[in-house]
Amino acid sequence: MNWWETDFLAVRENRLFIAGRDAVGLAERHGTPLYVYGKGRILERYGRLEDAMARHSPLEARICYAMKANPHRGILRLLRRRGAWIDAVSPGEVETALQAGFPAERILFTGTSVSRADLRSVFAVAGLTVNIDAAEQLDLMSEVKREFPARTVRVSVRWNPGIGRGINARVITAGKRSSDGTPIKFGVEGKKVLGVFARARKLGFRPVGLHQHLGSGWVREDAPMVRAAVDRMVRKARELERAGFRLEFLDFGGGFGPRYLRTRSVFPVEDHIAYLSRAVAGAGLGVKALALEPGKYLVGDAGVLLLGVEYIKESYGNIFACVDGGTFNTVPRPAIYPSAHHVIVNAGRVDAAAKARVTVAGNICETGDVFGRERLMPLPASGDVLAVLGAGAYCRSMASRFNLRGIPREVLI
Ligand SMILES: Cc1ncc(COP(=O)(O)O)c(C=O)c1O
Repeated sequence: MNWWETDFLAVRENRLFIAGRDAVGLAERHGTPLYVYGKGRILERYGRLEDAMARHSPLEARICYAMKANPHRGILRLLRRRGAWIDAVSPGEVETALQAGFPAERILFTGTSVSRADLRSVFAVAGLTVNIDAAEQLDLMSEVKREFPARTVRVSVRWNPGIGRGINARVITAGKRSSDGTPIKFGVEGKKVLGVFARARKLGFRPVGLHQHLGSGWVREDAPMVRAAVDRMVRKARELERAGFRLEFLDFGGGFGPRYLRTRSVFPVEDHIAYLSRAVAGAGLGVKALALEPGKYLVGDAGVLLLGVEYIKESYGNIFACVDGGTFNTVPRPAIYPSAHHVIVNAGRVDAAAKARVTVAGNICETGDVFGRERLMPLPASGDVLAVLGAGAYCRSMASRFNLRGIPREVLI
């Protein structure tokens, strides 16, 4: 069995099956390039989180789907029916969540560089919670709030606990600077948090929660740092309670994901949930609910991109499988993040004794447009279907029309 096989992906008679269906058959039926997502896999992941939260804490569990990972309407409706909440980061995401039937009460809006127009849009949605990203944002909020005199706006504070964690510099979202020195723009600095709560209340907002999100793509080795940040969050919540703020929820963000690479370790999600539940209980906090914001974890390995091979090209000793899609328009992560890796499988011939080093090249005019570089695989042939695994999160949602290429169809099965 291959390490990436799951209830969603299986190999039978050397062919790839996606949710029980022959991948080549799906490509023939719907055409390539094609995204295929699996309902069963998403629900399985959701169930795991829900069970772990119920096992470790008596508090209400809020699984807030970070919809930026994949805002496919079918996925949103599926998760809404299952009881999920939503982490939305723009008015467009709020609007899409409402259209998918999420009640405003289950949406947390976490903006960054928030504009007056953003605030106008979200204040118009009664019941939604606005997560404050900056002390300085309160001036804008107070100004726009005057247009909604009768509305009580629920707010929480996204604080920056001073430490962050993520698989690469671009996705570390807390701490002073990222691992490459980039100043971190997110969240309210620790020493300002109490002041933001006090001022928000004075301005007529209703502070209800504290939030942090450390980054994305955690691996096992990140666990000690993540725990240290959980401890900081709990200490900060205690400080707020002592100052008289009754917190309804603590939101520990997302960051844990599926495995994209055999050699990469897996973050122990259940241990994390057990740890944070114990920390909250041990501190005697009066909060009613614990929240997590999974994106990748729920959908990352529940999606595959199918590509058709047009021809095999040889140049200066390099072998290229030239496919009918470009990374920018389909799976842009390898072109954006140096550490991103997606397993690539020949759907009709998963394994063969004879292998070659193949670079899977897209149809975009850019050298970086490769799905995989010099991968050891059975040499593909024209007409073969290649499956790019782990294409459920931050692929369609980050895809652009660069080179004026189209964006593939999506099917949810
Ligand atoms: C505020 C917030 N919450 C949650 C997430 C989800 O992260 P992940 O997909 O790694 O779980 C993100 C990702 O960017 C985020 O910015």
